[in-house]
Amino acid sequence: MSPVLENKKIVCGITGSIAAYKVCDWIRSLRREGAEITAVLTDSATEFVTPLTFAALTGKPVYRKMFSGQNEERIPHISLARGCDLILVAPATAQTISRFAHGMADDLLAAIVMATEAKVVICPAMNSRMYLHPATQENIGKLKEYGYLVVEPDCGMMACGEEGPGRLPEWNQVREAIISTLTPQTLYGKTVLVTAGPTEEPFDPVRFIGNRSSGKMGYAMAAVACQMGARVILITGPGSLPAPAGVELVRVRTAEEMYMEVMSRFDTADIVVKAAAVSDFRPAEISSQKIKKTHEKITLQLIQNRDILQKLGEIKNRRINPPLLIGFAAESDHLVEYGQEKMQKKNLDFIAVNDITAADSGFAVDTNRIILLDRQGGQIEFPLLSKEETARRIWGRVVSRADRST
Ligand code: CTP
Repeated sequence: MSPVLENKKIVCGITGSIAAYKVCDWIRSLRREGAEITAVLTDSATEFVTPLTFAALTGKPVYRKMFSGQNEERIPHISLARGCDLILVAPATAQTISRFAHGMADDLLAAIVMATEAKVVICPAMNSRMYLHPATQENIGKLKEYGYLVVEPDCGMMACGEEGPGRLPEWNQVREAIISTLTPQTLYGKTVLVTAGPTEEPFDPVRFIGNRSSGKMGYAMAAVACQMGARVILITGPGSLPAPAGVELVRVRTAEEMYMEVMSRFDTADIVVKAAAVSDFRPAEISSQKIKKTHEKITLQLIQNRDILQKLGEIKNRRINPPLLIGFAAESDHLVEYGQEKMQKKNLDFIAVNDITAADSGFAVDTNRIILLDRQGGQIEFPLLSKEETARRIWGRVVSRADRST
């Protein structure tokens, strides 16, 4: 759930492609997150889906014609164009894209898009040859010049049996694009380095020491930074989460690998977020063969890993523009006290502390309850929130603090 979508008025333009049926689900998702949707169907869209379906899904009349008089408003294009926060055109056919590119306001949807000052997100979907045709590519280039966000189609098997680019992208990707478009780009121009997930420390070819981190909080920090316009590099330990749209993903396994990857990119980062649950120890030796159970007991000797964040804290002031360092602390008691100690010890600008003993926050759940401390003595406790919303609140504080200190 993203409050960015709450109470947003979205005009959803549906055009004549077989992928139109997929947008039914998208509308349900948008409404679940609090958006208000008005559907506008082109004539050819009605060959694939019925206006009734969209009326039921949006809970509102569906608009089709410029002058039909079917709805209360006889000329709806101006009021729809003015009264919305965003126009989503999905699926967008080659024909509709061409219409937009050439400023032809000869149907209701094209007229609304021309008359609006709202953001426009376009999701092309068509046969891959049509998509790759120079005319379509040139038209898409024009739409980008006009400031519309064009979400690249996916590659794969099409309904027409051909394979290639042209499939409507997955909802998650389009959702990210919509949220980014509606989010002020306060991290634009910044490079954000995020670490996430657990690390695994092997002691034979099949076994390792790990931890329960899922990476969700770090992935949320990366996704929201991306939505706010940052270039985001996400260095992640093992896990099954899909990469947030738009981030540069670097996969690592051990703490030592994470150390190397972070260090090699540290100079490019304006902000570093260390949400990874880095293993503090690793086995002193790694057996090249699987350890057999020939003994009743075995002893693993562990040695300490390097503390990545501590190292960054030591070297950050060597840079002319020192980056902001944001740490996370997993604590079971004395949250504020231990958090403050870690912030001092590692020379951080912010630390987000969470109580790992609470069932609804911390490891492997979708929600979190964070206390955010900053080096100026600020302390704020966020309520129980989704990890995405927690990330949004943390970034809000970081951006406002950074603005005040420049
Ligand atoms: N961290 C790190 N490298 C390590 C260990 C921790 O970069 N080898 C970072 C984590 O990513 C986190 C912060 O340090 O941002 C605090 O991690 P945490 O595990 O809470 O604390 P530790 O410093 O490991 O101290 P302790 O386990 O003793 O509480």
